[in-house]
Amino acid sequence: MNSPNGVSMDNLRVGKKQDGRACKSVELGKEIIFYVNGKPTQAYQGETIHAALICAGYRQFRKSKTNQPRGVFCGMGVCYECLVTIDNGPQRQACVTLVEEGMEVQIDAG
Ligand code: FES
Repeated sequence: MNSPNGVSMDNLRVGKKQDGRACKSVELGKEIIFYVNGKPTQAYQGETIHAALICAGYRQFRKSKTNQPRGVFCGMGVCYECLVTIDNGPQRQACVTLVEEGMEVQIDAG
């Protein structure tokens, strides 16, 4: 899988073996497709939206009130920097929300 700028990001996934040193005890869940701004995007069951977006090459999830780029900061549900819109509902934290098959995620990537 390539990022929006064409760089392969798939080796960021936990459990993907590149050189035999990857975590052998971690297995990826079932491959699923969710949508980022309408674009079909690969993910695996059990991943957070944050992880799936990072592996798909997205770093900016939204903009601040002063138009500054925002993405993941704490990665554990504290800072609210990773807010995304899911299925046209209220914004939720990408770092603590699991991605689901067919989920529609809206980000403001720039
Ligand atoms: S990155 Fe801090 S709440 Fe998600």
